Amino acid sequence: SQTERGTTVSTTGIVYRPRRLRATPGMRRLVAETRLHPADLVLPLFVKEGLSEPAPLASMPGQVQHTEDSLLDAVRAARDAGLGGVMLFGIPAIKDASGSQGDAVDGILQRALRASRKVLDEGLAPGAPTPVLMADTCLDEFTDHGHCGVLTGDGAVDNDATLARYASMAVAQARAGADVISPSGMMDGQVAMIRDALDDAGFIDTSILAYSAKYASAFYGPFREAVDSELKGDRKTYQMDFANAREGLREADLDLAEGADMVIVKPAGSYLDVLRAVADRSDVPVAAYQVSGEYAMIEAAGANGWIDRDRAVLESVTSIKRAGADVILTYWALELAEWIK
Ligand code: PBG
Repeated sequence: SQTERGTTVSTTGIVYRPRRLRATPGMRRLVAETRLHPADLVLPLFVKEGLSEPAPLASMPGQVQHTEDSLLDAVRAARDAGLGGVMLFGIPAIKDASGSQGDAVDGILQRALRASRKVLDEGLAPGAPTPVLMADTCLDEFTDHGHCGVLTGDGAVDNDATLARYASMAVAQARAGADVISPSGMMDGQVAMIRDALDDAGFIDTSILAYSAKYASAFYGPFREAVDSELKGDRKTYQMDFANAREGLREADLDLAEGADMVIVKPAGSYLDVLRAVADRSDVPVAAYQVSGEYAMIEAAGANGWIDRDRAVLESVTSIKRAGADVILTYWALELAEWIK
């Protein structure tokens, strides 16, 4: 049937033409529902003890293990690009069963935090907010067995014994200048334990970004190279089963009840449904971590000419924001900030 509109009659009967709003770049920009901003983005960075030159990561083209010096160049670049923050991961020269370098005052991560703290606080453009300094709070980079916690005699990950290690790491990281403690080990009760320890040590203003819905994922593959992980086997007794979405909501509820200030869904791209559900349900800031494997896949396909790399980068990160992320951890943070500023 035909519909009259003013004095003309459509010959096709089409009344609504959504394509009008896609007709020009200017119109598309005007009606875009989602816009990335450098301040949404957090750059994960790896720093390795004893390294004399930055070490390129074969499975993450463009990313490196930093020396303590080159780390500071990256932190400076993040600051000057107006990123929301940086997330530091430390790789110690010596790993042991309890991950003792994780909370050592002079452990690599604490040294890197102290030095980064200075870089972030000094040399800021007047009036510019200081990017937030975040620390990964987990043992897997520090243990010789590669698990995120300490082990029982028969090799299982000991939840409750691990909590004390996390509490100690969190306080060491706060002392070293971290604004945000990011427990990523998926131990039950970790947020409550860390909150207590921080408060007892006087760090009442140090925030907790809880990895609430963190899945046992094949997409962490390249990260294992990035942190020289010693892991054999998997993390399926503590990280979540990728079959489950509602369980992710429960994890987020528990972390918030324990005092988390923000929550993360991780990985991002294959878990946009979980991200959307967590964002709809909770009233705290929700972060998503676009992990190493997500990065590697787009880089690899781009390098082969199979996809347009730059477009895929922008699309993947914008989709994560569209799905409800307030904060996005991505290895492309610096490059993206350059494009979108
Ligand atoms: C654990 C941790 C991991 C990642 C971040 N924190 C690895 C894991 O849980 O196996 C993965 C990040 C990435 O793949 O980019 N400390």
